Amino acid sequence: MEKLNLLSFLCIIVLFLRVTRSLTTSLRDYDTFLECLQSHTSSSDQVSNIVYAQTNASYTSILEAFVRNSRFNTPSTPKPLLIITPFSEHQVQATVVCAKSVGLQLRIRSGGHDFEGASYVSQVPFVILDMFNFQNVTVDIQNEVAVIQSGASLGQVYYRIWEKSEVHGFAAGACPTIGVGGHLSGGGYGSMIRKYGLSVDHVIDAKIVDVKGRILDKKAMGEDLFWTIKGGGGASFGVILSYTVKLVQVPEKVTVFKVDNTLEQNATDLVFEWQHVAPHTDDRLFMRMTLQPVISEGNKTIRASIKALFLGGANELVTLLEKEFPLLRLKKETCKEMRWIDSVLWLMNDNHGSSLEVLLDRSRYSKYFNKIKSDYVQTPISKDGLKWIWKKMIELGNTQLIFIPYGGKMNEVPSDATPFPHRAGNLYKIQYNVSWQEPGAVAEKNLMDQIRKLYSYMTLFVSKNPRRAFLNYRDLDIGINSHGEDNYEDGKVFGVKYFDKNFQRLVKVKTAIDPENFFWNEQSMPTLPAIKQQVENITDKRKIGYFN
Ligand SMILES: Cc1cc2nc3c(=O)[nH]c(=O)nc-3n(C[C@H](O)[C@H](O)[C@H](O)COP(=O)(O)OP(=O)(O)OC[C@H]3O[C@@H](n4cnc5c(N)ncnc54)[C@H](O)[C@@H]3O)c2cc1C
Ligand SMILES: *[C@@H]1O[C@H](CO)[C@@H](O)[C@H](O)[C@H]1NC(C)=O
Ligand SMILES: *[C@@H]1O[C@H](CO)[C@@H](O)[C@H](O)[C@H]1NC(C)=O
Ligand SMILES: *[C@@H]1O[C@H](CO)[C@@H](O)[C@H](O)[C@H]1NC(C)=O
Ligand SMILES: *[C@@H]1O[C@H](CO)[C@@H](O)[C@H](O)[C@H]1NC(C)=O
Ligand SMILES: *[C@@H]1O[C@H](CO)[C@@H](O)[C@H](O)[C@H]1NC(C)=O
Ligand SMILES: *[C@@H]1O[C@H](CO)[C@@H](O)[C@H](O)[C@H]1NC(C)=O
Repeated sequence: MEKLNLLSFLCIIVLFLRVTRSLTTSLRDYDTFLECLQSHTSSSDQVSNIVYAQTNASYTSILEAFVRNSRFNTPSTPKPLLIITPFSEHQVQATVVCAKSVGLQLRIRSGGHDFEGASYVSQVPFVILDMFNFQNVTVDIQNEVAVIQSGASLGQVYYRIWEKSEVHGFAAGACPTIGVGGHLSGGGYGSMIRKYGLSVDHVIDAKIVDVKGRILDKKAMGEDLFWTIKGGGGASFGVILSYTVKLVQVPEKVTVFKVDNTLEQNATDLVFEWQHVAPHTDDRLFMRMTLQPVISEGNKTIRASIKALFLGGANELVTLLEKEFPLLRLKKETCKEMRWIDSVLWLMNDNHGSSLEVLLDRSRYSKYFNKIKSDYVQTPISKDGLKWIWKKMIELGNTQLIFIPYGGKMNEVPSDATPFPHRAGNLYKIQYNVSWQEPGAVAEKNLMDQIRKLYSYMTLFVSKNPRRAFLNYRDLDIGINSHGEDNYEDGKVFGVKYFDKNFQRLVKVKTAIDPENFFWNEQSMPTLPAIKQQVENITDKRKIGYFN
């Protein structure tokens, strides 16, 4: 008994010492950082308003405001020593320079939707550079151009465009709270992907703060770096301040529909056919398919839900699908015609009665725990293959698959036009999704196991050498930079999956722009430190296996 008491007493002492030590360290970091910021800005900059120490009463709410995955919001999740929230470009420059000179790792956050928390979690002492004050979206309809700051949300982008024109939009993701900084730098796609390709296919300029704290636009950064931040992941290269994009035209009326079928309603035939129609049909039509195990009238089955957007009218759509996809038996009554901006809300949650202002509301996000993975399908899966997948999904119980059709514009853009390589030859992308509401280690392990098993079962049916993955669906299972600095071999593992043949060019740009690898995270681009010096002098890089 006494022993136990002594033990708990000691524990409390140790805990107390740890807490006080981390608080004093935090305060010391705070002072050092603030001093550095002050010396790199003018007194009118008031940098004392942009640094949140762990002891600050607002620290937790600032941190949690843009944590979008509860898996990274637990007591054991490592927390930043400081959160820096600049209001000006100048303050961003100073933040980069100071993080470097103080020797703290920097994580850059725009919307916080990273599926692995890369923008706000690190295993070493770090600070967050939070871009949420950079929300300006300046729309110029005459020239069909917008300048979008990286901390703006997609909802803000859509809303600001709609304020000026109902027949313009932008090609980007469905979830309106996603941040521009992560979304565009990671490739960014949405329901107009077949008509207009990726967000980055419309980027015409950008502003970035590099490791030396310089602000560079397209002209100053040069073609290589500009290419890189169109899908190569911003966080490996610098802090993106803004993107300048070309708007796209949308019709006055678009059409949406949703159709559900279970296996008993011949979903297998439907999914099989979908693979032959969705990636090849009129590029104005996007038919996303969600597959999940459900219980229907007491039977365990799979439900296949098609949710679609057509950039045209309902009559034209029904005629088109009668011809190309008769199995769907789409009726005019199932279709809804609406403005493009309303389809954004509809695709997000079926609920297009809400006012458009919800697009501006960044707190409107239901948080849950989740794990995501991705794959690409290049050959249609046979009916027997599909039936086997259904069996496995029903056995597992909680995993969801979403098929995202490619084709159209995606086939026309060369695979090296941007770092995003998954263009012609890819019929559709698969998103694996498992999510849950309650914390709990047992449930978490079970669900994480489920999604990993399903991923492994799917090996037969998906792309190989490399097995491709989508950077914006970040998945640390496919490889991490485990050795800190000199990590070329580690980086190659996930780098080739995300970027295929574009990996080499990304490494080359990374090595040139950030040779000391300051902009680091678990899946940042590696540099070539060992042969860095030689690379600059070597004319035939093949000799050193640089392009193997
Ligand atoms: C509910 C949900 C729906 C989604 N739907 C889609 C979809 O339809 N289409 C799609 O393509 N993706 C989708 N995604 C994925 C999403 O696009 C990516 O997670 C994207 O990276 C999020 O950007 P963010 O700014 O919100 O994230 P953050 O977590 O802030 O950032 C993501 C990554 O980018 C880096 N980064 C952020 N800002 C900057 C910057 N200013 N400069 C340099 N680096 C920066 C971060 O450090 C981090 O590595 C979805 C994600 C969620 C959670
Ligand atoms: C918390 O930090 C912010 C940002 O630096 C600052 O403006 C505020 O005064 C701080 N609050 C307290 C109670 O120290
Ligand atoms: C956003 O625009 C406003 C109005 O022009 C300006 O005052 C503000 O500084 C801008 N914010 C940033 C972060 O650039
Ligand atoms: C499913 O397919 C069978 C065989 O082709 C057909 O007889 C049946 O009517 C279909 N059921 C539904 C709900 O479409
Ligand atoms: C449920 O399964 C039983 C047995 O296989 C089958 O007879 C029945 O038709 C199924 N019910 C539905 C709604 O599909
Ligand atoms: C994952 O599935 C859950 C449950 O069906 C859903 O609420 C969530 O939106 C899905 N997440 C993504 C990123 O698709
Ligand atoms: C690279 O070439 C330059 C100029 O010829 C030379 O000065 C330098 O030493 C070379 N560096 C290495 C590592 O060989």
